[in-house]
Amino acid sequence: MLDTAIRNAEIVTAADRYRAEIGIRDGRIVIIAEDVGPAHEEIDATGLLVLPGGIDAHVHLEQPQGGGVVMADGFESGTRSAAAGGTTTVMPFALQQRGQSLREAVTAYHKAAEGKCHTDISFHLIITDPTPQVLGQELPALVKDGYTSFKVFMTYDDMVLNDAQLLDVFDVARREKAMVMVHAEGYDAIKYMAKRLEEAGKTAPYYHAESRPQSVEREATHRAISHAELSDVPITIVHVSGRDPMEQIQWAKKRGMNVWAETCPQYIALVADDLKGLNMDFEGAKYVCSPPPRDLDSQKAIWEGLRDGTFDLFSSDHCPFRFEDAKGKDVAGARTSFRWVPNGIPGIEARLPILFSEGVSKGRIPIERFVALTSTNPAKLFGMYPRKGTIAVGSDADLTFWDPEREVTMSQSLHHHDCDYTPYEGMAIKGWPVRTILRGSTIFLDGEITGTPGQGAYLERGTSQAFGV
Ligand code: URP
Ligand code: ZN
Ligand code: ZN
Repeated sequence: MLDTAIRNAEIVTAADRYRAEIGIRDGRIVIIAEDVGPAHEEIDATGLLVLPGGIDAHVHLEQPQGGGVVMADGFESGTRSAAAGGTTTVMPFALQQRGQSLREAVTAYHKAAEGKCHTDISFHLIITDPTPQVLGQELPALVKDGYTSFKVFMTYDDMVLNDAQLLDVFDVARREKAMVMVHAEGYDAIKYMAKRLEEAGKTAPYYHAESRPQSVEREATHRAISHAELSDVPITIVHVSGRDPMEQIQWAKKRGMNVWAETCPQYIALVADDLKGLNMDFEGAKYVCSPPPRDLDSQKAIWEGLRDGTFDLFSSDHCPFRFEDAKGKDVAGARTSFRWVPNGIPGIEARLPILFSEGVSKGRIPIERFVALTSTNPAKLFGMYPRKGTIAVGSDADLTFWDPEREVTMSQSLHHHDCDYTPYEGMAIKGWPVRTILRGSTIFLDGEITGTPGQGAYLERGTSQAFGV
């Protein structure tokens, strides 16, 4: 006997759309058929689309910030919010602080997440201090333990790696078969621009966007791609914001280079002008993130890239700071210069509805591509496929039920995060996740969390399919 049978489902994967029933036992899909037979639990999916649970491959939770800033979401609230947005696997970063061993950082993150998660999770590493010990011993050992991806930064005072360090990390990644995610913005150019703007008295949050224009991102993207070519290693350029950096990725892909790319909701739903707030006021801090949102032409370019395969991933880059909070956006100094406004915005819950509504419901991308961008590709690129990212016999029963007709106005009041605002307030959405199932258990139903913290498991991962495995 099955544990659960899902009847009258219209199943959508990255490849197919068809009607069938799904049978679940012990958290896994064991049968997909016209009639799967009897089950203890019956779920009727009439009128709904059943998709693989979302995988959010770019999330910051409980990440130490310095300067008295505290992130709005920890593992409980962040994964709760993810579940409510149709996501079943969350990939937060385990940040190595300079002077800290990577292993120590990973252990601390596990401790913070233990017993708290509503969804499954798996950590990427952030490398800020690539010492010989880290490169020679810690990283290889951690990759063997299933931490098969890491992020590096080309900007931020406390995280930037220089070109020699980037090449060192790329080298280890090639040897150990790990995926490197690159934050591509040029450090020196940003510092130069920020100083120039401040000297001119241009300190409002809006000038954050002017301090890091697309040329800064374009240059760093090209540099990262060139270094990856030298190192002969696959890389993923994360949070690509507009046409200029996107063209660099197209250039690389056309040359057959092993370059992958991610974009995020803020680059299709926001523009730099949002940072102006009401009248160049502090309200604009709600939209401060890096890279910043661009303009309508860039949004158009991003849609082209989502359609034509330039982008492989659509992640949230959820990095939440409360707005009315001296430990958040309103930290000491933030009103004196954009330079001190914490970078990052929430999006873990809004990610899938925004892409579904703006992409699928408006006919910009087929629904199969929606599934590829938000679930199947992250599973393949980060070593979780086919356990995650698809609906198939043997896969985890991670499923999201979508009502494609449901119309909703996006609002903070609907959210389950611990942030105090959403940058997407008032946005008209068509298509809404109504049920989220994690390994066979319903963890979210009709606006309510039905799972419990601790239900989510930690996933050790295999090698990225970017290595041809
Ligand atoms: O502004 C952002 N995106 N903050 C999060 C950190 C990062 O660079 O991803
Ligand atoms: Zn980044
Ligand atoms: Zn990020």
